Order: sequence, then C-alpha cells, then structure tokens
Amino acid sequence: MCGIVAVIGSRDAAPLLLKGLKQLEYRGYDSAGLATVTTRDIPSTGSLICKRANGKLANLVEKVHSEGAPGQLGIGHTRWATHGKPEERNAHPHRDSSGSLAVVQNGIIENHSALRKALQLEGVKFASDTDTEVIPHLISRELNLLKSQGRIVNATLLLEAVRKVVSQLQGAYALAVVWQETPEALVVARKQAPLLIGLGEGEFLCASDTPALAGFTRTILPMEDGEVALLTPLGIELYDSQGHRQQRSPSFLHGLEDVVSKRNFRHFMLKEIYEQPETARLWVDRHLPLGLPEAVPVALPFENSFYEGIERIQILACGTSRHAAMVGAYLLEQFAGIPTTVFYASEFRYAPPPLAPNTLTIGVTQSGETADTLAALAMEKERREVYKHPDFLSRELGITNRAESSIARQVSNILDIGAGLEVGVAATKTFLAQLLSFYSLTLSFASRRKSRSLEEITSLINELRLLPKQLLVLVKQHDALAVTLAQRFSDTQNVIFLGRGINYPIALEGALKLKEISYIHAEGYPAGEMKHGPIALLERRVPVISIATPGVVFEKVLSNAQEAKARDAQLIGVAPEGLATEIFDALMPIPEVSEWISPLFSVIPMQLLSYHIAANRGLDIDQPRNLAKSVTVE
Ligand code: F6R
Repeated sequence: MCGIVAVIGSRDAAPLLLKGLKQLEYRGYDSAGLATVTTRDIPSTGSLICKRANGKLANLVEKVHSEGAPGQLGIGHTRWATHGKPEERNAHPHRDSSGSLAVVQNGIIENHSALRKALQLEGVKFASDTDTEVIPHLISRELNLLKSQGRIVNATLLLEAVRKVVSQLQGAYALAVVWQETPEALVVARKQAPLLIGLGEGEFLCASDTPALAGFTRTILPMEDGEVALLTPLGIELYDSQGHRQQRSPSFLHGLEDVVSKRNFRHFMLKEIYEQPETARLWVDRHLPLGLPEAVPVALPFENSFYEGIERIQILACGTSRHAAMVGAYLLEQFAGIPTTVFYASEFRYAPPPLAPNTLTIGVTQSGETADTLAALAMEKERREVYKHPDFLSRELGITNRAESSIARQVSNILDIGAGLEVGVAATKTFLAQLLSFYSLTLSFASRRKSRSLEEITSLINELRLLPKQLLVLVKQHDALAVTLAQRFSDTQNVIFLGRGINYPIALEGALKLKEISYIHAEGYPAGEMKHGPIALLERRVPVISIATPGVVFEKVLSNAQEAKARDAQLIGVAPEGLATEIFDALMPIPEVSEWISPLFSVIPMQLLSYHIAANRGLDIDQPRNLAKSVTVE
C-alpha cells in the first residue's frame, strides 16, 4: 500500500525514481510525486524541487518531463489514499512550512491527530489532510531546536532529528526524508512496514518493494523493524530503535527481470493467468520429484519436528489468500485428518479463539506484507509466549510468494510458493501456487500420520503430476471460450457463484475476481445455502455460475443448480462435459479429475471470465479502482 522509492548517488535521481515508481504502481495509483535536491555544485545550490500529480503515475512523468527535477538525491511516492482524498494537495512528498524538507511515507500514523493539534497550537499551517504531513513539520521543529543549540548542519543532524521524531510516531510506517541543507544525505526509517536498501555502485536506492530495484541492483539490505538509516554517497549508517549502530551483510535477489514486461499480453493479469501451467510445473519439480521414499513422498523444507505433535491447525489470511486457505483447510481436515480452522486475519486480531494446545498457526499472504495477517500472527505468538506452557508454545508457518518479505523475517518456518512476481493487482497465479502449497502440506501430513493409505496418497500425487500439461490446455481453451461468454454478460449487474465442499472457496474466489476487476456485484455461496435467502435475488437477468465437479456433492450441486434454473436464472456450469451438463445454458468445461484436485481446474474459467468481462467493459484490469497489491495498513 503506497510505494516509496528514494535514491542518492551520482546520477540524476528523477529518472531512477520514476522508473522505480513505475514498478511499484501496483501498490497504489491515486496520485504520485517526487522531490529532488540539487547538489551544491549546481548553480541553484541546495534547493528542493517537488513535483506532484493527481491520478496515475503517467501524469507525474509528464510533469517531470516538461518542468524538470534536477538533483542526484530524491524521494518518490505512489499513493493509495488513506487520510485525505486523492487530490494533488494530498499527494506525497509533504513538506515543512519552509518547503526545504520533504517526506514520503507508507503506512498510517495513528497518533497524527494529536500531533497535528499540538503543531497547530504552535502556529504550524497544514497544507493537506494527510496523516503524513505531521512528519516534515516535526522534523523541521526538531532541526530548528538542534540548530538553536549551536549544532552544525550536517547529515548527522538530520539523522538525529528523524530519530527523535520517529520515536514520537505511533502506527506502522516506512518513510524517507530529504532536506535541502544536506544534499548529501538521505534518511529512511521503518516500523511494521517494509523498506529495503538496494546497494548500487556509488549509489543507493531504497524502496518499499523489490521490483523497484529491477535494473538497478540485486544486492539488498532489508531494513528491520524500528531501524533508521542514513545514506550518503560514502555509505550506509544503520541504527536500531535504541540508537545502536547495526552491521549486517547484504543479501542477493533473484529473478527480477521478468517483472518488467507484459510480453505480448494485453494485461499483466492475462500474462499471469497464462503463467499458471509453468507455476504448476515448477511446483511439481520442487515438491514432487520422482524417487522420494514412500514414507515421505513430498519434498518440503521442514525438519521432522515441524510435523510432530500437531493436533490442530489455524490459518490466518485475507482476501484471495483466505480462499486458498479454505481449500487448504478442506484438504488438511478431509484428506489428512487434522482439525483446521480458517480466520479472517483482521477479525482474529481482536477476537481470537481461546488458546488451544499443540496448534500450528499458518499465515497465508502472497505479498508477505499484509498488515492484518502479520499483526494477527504476531499477536498469536505473543499470547502463547505469555502463557508459557510447553503444550501451548507458538508453532508457526508462513506461506508466501515473497521469501524476502516481512513475514519471512517474522515467522520461523516459511513455505515459498515460488510463483514469481505477480504484477496484476488481482491475484491469479499466486492463488494457484498457494493452493499447491496446501497440497504439499496435506500430502506431507497425511503420509507421516498415515491418515490415508499409500494408494490414496500415490494416486493424488500422480494426478498432481499431470496438472501442468492439463492446465496448459485448459487456459487456452477458456481464454477463447470466455471471450464469447463475456460478451453475453458485460452489462450484467449481479452474478451468483455456487460451489460446495472443496469448491465452495472457488465460488467465493470467482465472485471476488469479478467484483475486483469488473465492478459487477457478485456473491459466492455454498450451493446448499442458496435456498435460505439468496434465491430471492434470482430472475432472468441474474446469471448463476455453478461449479459441479464429480464427487461427494456432485448430485447435490446439480439439484441446487436446477433450483436456480427454475427461477429463470441463466445457468452457467463449470463441470466436466457430458455429465448431466445438459441442464446448463452454457458450459465452461473442465477435465474429469478427482474431487480433491478439482479446485485447481475450476478456478481457471473463473479467472478468465472475469478478465474478459472487465476487458469488454474497457476497465483498467491491472490496476482496478481503489485497490492495491499489498495492503500494508490495517
Ligand atoms: C484479490 C487479492 C486480495 C489479496 C489480499 C491479501 O485478488 O489479491 O484479496 O488476496 O489483499 O493479500 P496477501 O495475499 O498479499 O496477504
């Protein structure tokens, strides 16, 4: 949520900032801005230039190109509005009253009202409605105080002022500060919001996410919670929240190039839907290699102790990740026999269930940065630590697509879903990869606990090995089919998705995808629930999409679909061809596979139908309104 880029070095900052922001635009696109500081050897010595524009980044790019923003030090921001409407005056960077100091921030300053009031009483005039604006005013006040004590104006002074101010801030934030009086200094800080430093040759680029570093460097230093850093052309000074100097070795990033290009696809979302067979192939190679022992037929990066003594599992997640978790819970309970509950992370934070012993807590987040999921995991760990009972010790696992993200630093066991970077705001390939991670876990638990026979386990593994090839065919088939179907439904206002059992979460996911990118109202229901209320909505203009895959609830789902048809609803089936499918007005066929793996197929038509409906409506598919790819605020 909100993207930050900051750079200091020997090249012009503005092009680097704009390039970095382009890669971060998925984090928010309500407005964008940058501030540069000219160095003293440029005639207009040490001045701060600030350019901001409402709307997409392209507006800022145009402004910077026509008006210019010289300087080799700069900060940039792409905004997802929290406090204050998407207007230019609320766009970052925000400046102090003198206009000599600028700040970009990602997060929420929870005590901003109190700080604002105090500053206003001192006579400070605010130019925006944002929570962020208190920060430049506070730093400026601190700098004036230090200067009045006779302190020399230099980079260390700015660092000291920022450190004093961040200690007054409550909430989660990542921020970057420049001051025209110190054109050789960039100060950055983070608390519960991501920020990493990229190390180039004689230059540094800080960003809230790794894609901003594509083409700049692969050497990174992720900042830890509470740290503040001073970056100068000479190097990095990193301090923890107590002010102790930190020394850490940088790490190396892999696979950044493929981020940048849509290749021949119209949208990143379509490209990412097409990447799913490859996502599945990589997963099979990694987790189901041939030749593993029967007792442990899945390759996972965990010690035996990870599996031992677990009596129940609780999963914390949001949005699409929660839908993947629901499929996961079905598998873990029904296939591996472990009682499993899924929670909205945002609800769990404030109403957790009573502590239960020997519980594995799983956080699922593709971005690894979702504030609610991270906070829920932290809260769970803390209350278990406080309880201090050996049976209640915290046992945790994070399932993420970003092995370098905050969850990886917070949680002791990580399962990297390995989907590669997803740029489209609506999750597609990461959803499939999250599902696959749950198949690995389920198989691993089932074989170790012997909750399923060897034949059942082998049969599931063999089916999963065929997945990449089957998906290749399915994606192409449904891309073509969905184009025609989408024409029929482009003007539709309400859609109902029905599924049952393991495919109920896919009905939820189908509805969420449609809502997100086409802005059509859609609801997912367990098919058996329709008659308890939602059936009142049905009439000729309301399409019902029914997922009917052979298995324990197949006949039941068909009966529920008939009930919809009897109310004149247009009935679209996601089902294998030829199995009682004549009841559907239109069919989105999927292969006849075991019920266990059917979600991996039924989700594909959902993604493509939503995509083509949104494309028909001419919408901004990769950056749908009001959304952002990683939700780092509560
Ligand atoms: C929907 C979508 C969101 C995310 C949710 C959680 O397409 O992407 O619903 O699933 O914001 O995000 P992560 O997985 O990053 O925790």
